[in-house]
Parts: sequence; structure tokens; C-alpha cells
Amino acid sequence: MKLRFPLLAVVLPLLLLLLPRRSSAEEAATCSGIVPMKPRSQTISISDFGGVGDGAFLNTNAFREAIYRIEHLNRPGGTLLHVPAGEWLTGPFNLTSRMTLFLARGAVIKATQEWQKWPLIDPLPSYGRGRELPGGRYMSLLHGNGLQDVIITGDNGTIDGQGDVWWNMWRQRTLPFTRPNLLEFMHSSDILISNVVFKNSPFWNIHPVYCSNVVARNLTVLAPYDSPNTDGIDPDSSTNVCIEDSYIATGDDLVAVKSGWDEYGIAYGRPSSDITIRRITGSTPFAAIAVGSETSGGVENVLVEDVHIFNSGFGIHIKTNGGRGGYIRNVTVSNINMDKVRKGLRIAGDVGDHPDDRFNPDAIPVVSGLTIKNVWGVNVQQPGSIQGIKNSPFTGICLYNVKLLSAGPQEVPWKCADVSGSAALVQPGPCSELSSTYGTGICSTEI
Ligand SMILES: *[C@@H]1O[C@H](CO)[C@@H](O)[C@H](O)[C@H]1NC(C)=O
Ligand SMILES: *[C@@H]1O[C@H](CO)[C@@H](O)[C@H](O)[C@H]1NC(C)=O
Ligand SMILES: *[C@@H]1O[C@H](CO)[C@@H](O)[C@H](O)[C@H]1NC(C)=O
Ligand SMILES: *[C@@H]1O[C@H](CO)[C@@H](O)[C@H](O)[C@H]1NC(C)=O
Repeated sequence: MKLRFPLLAVVLPLLLLLLPRRSSAEEAATCSGIVPMKPRSQTISISDFGGVGDGAFLNTNAFREAIYRIEHLNRPGGTLLHVPAGEWLTGPFNLTSRMTLFLARGAVIKATQEWQKWPLIDPLPSYGRGRELPGGRYMSLLHGNGLQDVIITGDNGTIDGQGDVWWNMWRQRTLPFTRPNLLEFMHSSDILISNVVFKNSPFWNIHPVYCSNVVARNLTVLAPYDSPNTDGIDPDSSTNVCIEDSYIATGDDLVAVKSGWDEYGIAYGRPSSDITIRRITGSTPFAAIAVGSETSGGVENVLVEDVHIFNSGFGIHIKTNGGRGGYIRNVTVSNINMDKVRKGLRIAGDVGDHPDDRFNPDAIPVVSGLTIKNVWGVNVQQPGSIQGIKNSPFTGICLYNVKLLSAGPQEVPWKCADVSGSAALVQPGPCSELSSTYGTGICSTEI
């Protein structure tokens, strides 16, 4: 009797520990641990550098000076640059290592529309020229080259590219050079982008290129449905990239994994690998999740899961072209939900333009080991097409439990050519090229 209380005191906590709680299996899977959030040892504010958040004052020098200060203070724990509520108009500026850019609730970093003032930078070596036009390209609004340990976060503050001036130049064909990204990191590692809104980028929104260890999570990325080339997040020739828990609605692909363009990308030879894309919701006239079409450095080990797509062109689009070279292999796409999509799945070997006529037509891309499973779609106009390259078929293409239901009474069939693999539980019934196989291991990745 005497022992009861002490015993309970020991046993009860132990029992509680053993009781089934939300086990780790039930907890949402995440890759965001590769770049953890961390505090900084010092904080400075843009207001201390002459910044004015009135929407009219141009803060380019304030940002450059604040970041110059961070670079030269070089605190071991890094420095946080606080951007308070307000509209902070600015031209493009470089970030630096070991810094956090923090956008408070109500803070908007707004790109100047005086586009003539945007510096030009060299084309990416893996593209050989600007993506849109020959020659250089405009520097991104926020730019980082050769950096480590950079965090861009906040309390839902906004980075607004005010891109319409650029979109109009594109529409009127008066662009002198390739439009700028909203945020670009080159040759950088340990980058975390979270809890902010990206809006109205002139071109692609977030572009990590030649980077490793990049986390983009809990983001909102917005651009009008008809805004040209406003891709959401484009990991390009980068490894260990984690994109999670974001809402993206733009005028082009929501997430597109890339790795360089034709002969330039082949020569540069920098693949994209180990890319996780998880819990993304959104809408676009193009693809929710794309691989390509620029994949000349190769793309492998891509995991896409828990994606909800509505009012979109394509659900999943894996695209390359003759002359691209490179490879796309070991891509797994699962738990995808679609509503009102023109084409659920498109895998194609004839997509995208060439940088110039010096591409090698014999540089045939190799596409193998693509698993698409647990896909559910309603109001899908066409289930999809899988079209490889003549004499270089796409292999190991596996569809499992893919149901893409049309709105109308008419069922549109799949279209396939130059492809091999397997399919089971596919509705409408898969094309004969994917011989129907039942049983275990049907999607064992063939590489
Ligand atoms: C940004 O940094 C690069 C070096 O990475 C430098 O060449 C360039 O002049 C800087 N641009 C601005 C606008 O500070
Ligand atoms: C996501 O970001 C919002 C602000 O944009 C913040 O309030 C919320 O706590 C964040 N959630 C997570 C899980 O980090
Ligand atoms: C953040 O802002 C976006 C865009 O305005 C909004 O849709 C979203 O609900 C906001 N999130 C939070 C947590 O405030
Ligand atoms: C294929 O990619 C997954 C990530 O989606 C990775 O876990 C796995 O190791 C890769 N397989 C091979 C054979 O590289």
C-alpha cells in the first residue's frame, strides 16, 4: 500500500510514454530538416540604414548598405535584417552569407518598375545565353552568388516583383534581354526560404541554380494566370532540394526541375538530384509539377507526393527534347489529386526550343524509371500521353492506381508511343505499350 503512490509515480509516466500517441509514422513526412531555422546573434533594421517604407522612396542603397554591414561585421552567428511593416520599394540587390532577411507582417519588398536600372549579369553557363534572348540577363531582385547559410523568412511578409511592366514588354516583343527572376541563388548552399509571399515575379519566382541544401517551405507564390513564364520554384542543376507545404498559383509551371539547356547544359554537366516536392496546392495554365524541358545535365531521384492541382493545364509534365542529351530517371510521383485539368499526365520527348542551331541532334535524352501512382482526378479532359523518342524509347514507365475521370460521358483514351513499362489499376485503361501487369513489384524502378 505504501508503495502504491511512488510506484504509480514511476509507472504512469512510463505507461504514458508507451501509449500510442501520434507516432512518427503518423506525423507528416518532411525533408525540411536539411536546413533548420535558427536564430541570429544580432539584429539590424532596414530603417537604420536610411530606409523608408512609404512605397515611394527607393531603398536600393539602404538594402545594399545594410547587407554590406552584415558582410563586414561577419558575426559568427550571423545577422538578421529586419524589414518592418511598410512598402519598401527597391532595385535589385545582393544578399550575403550568414544572414536572415526577415519580413514582418505587412512588410512588402517591392521591385522598382524602372527596369532600365536593373543591372545585367552574365548568362548561366549551363544555358549559354539568356533563356529568352541572346546575351546576358537582368539580375534577380534578390540575388545570391556563392553564399552559405541564408534564410529568407518572416511573418507572411511579401516580395512583390511588380512584374507587369516586364510582362508587357514580353507581349509587345520589346524586351532587350531575358527578364529577371524574383529570387535567384547561384552556387550557394544551406538556404531556407519560408513563411513569406512571392508575388508578380517578372519571370521565374524562385530559382536555385548550382545549389545544394535548399529548403522552400510554407510559401505562397502568386502571379496572374496569364502572366508569361512566371514559374513558381525551379530547382536547376541543384541537389538536396526540399519544397513543401506551399500554395502556388502562377502563369506557368508551379514547380519545374531543370538542369541546363542543350549543348551548354551537356558541357556544364551539372545534374539536379534528390529533389522532394511535397504538399503543394495550386493552379496554372501549364503544369503543376514539371521536370524539364531543360534537363541536359540530367535529373534523378525526384520524389513528388501529396499534390493538389485544380484548374490547370497539365497535372504532371515530364518533358525533354532531341538535342537535350542528359537523362531523367528515378522519378516517383504519388498521391496526386486533380480537379479540372486539361491533361493529367504528359511525358514527352519533343518539347521545348533550342538555344541556337549548334545543338547536337544526336544528343538523345535517356528517360527511365518513372513511377506514377495513386493519382485521382475528376473533370480531366484527357488522361494523358506518354510519347518517347523514336529508336530511344522511354523505359520503366510504371502507372499504378491512376484514375483520371473525364467530366463528359466520353472517355478519351491514353496515347502512347516509343515507351515501355507496366500499368495496373489504371482508368481509363492504359495503352497496350504498358503491358498490364498485376502483382507485387510492378513499379520496381528499372533504371
Ligand atoms: C552582386 O555580386 C556580384 C558578385 O557575385 C557582383 O559582381 C555584382 O556587382 C553585385 N551586384 C550588385 C548590384 O551589387
Ligand atoms: C507558416 O507561415 C505563416 C506566416 O506566413 C506562419 O504564421 C505559420 O506559423 C507558418 N507555419 C509553419 C508550420 O511554419
Ligand atoms: C499569407 O498571405 C497570403 C497572401 O496574401 C494569404 O493567402 C495567406 O492566407 C496568408 N497566411 C497567413 C498565415 O497569414
Ligand atoms: C530513387 O529516388 C529516391 C528518392 O525519390 C531515393 O530514395 C532512392 O534511393 C533512389 N534510388 C536509387 C536507386 O538511386
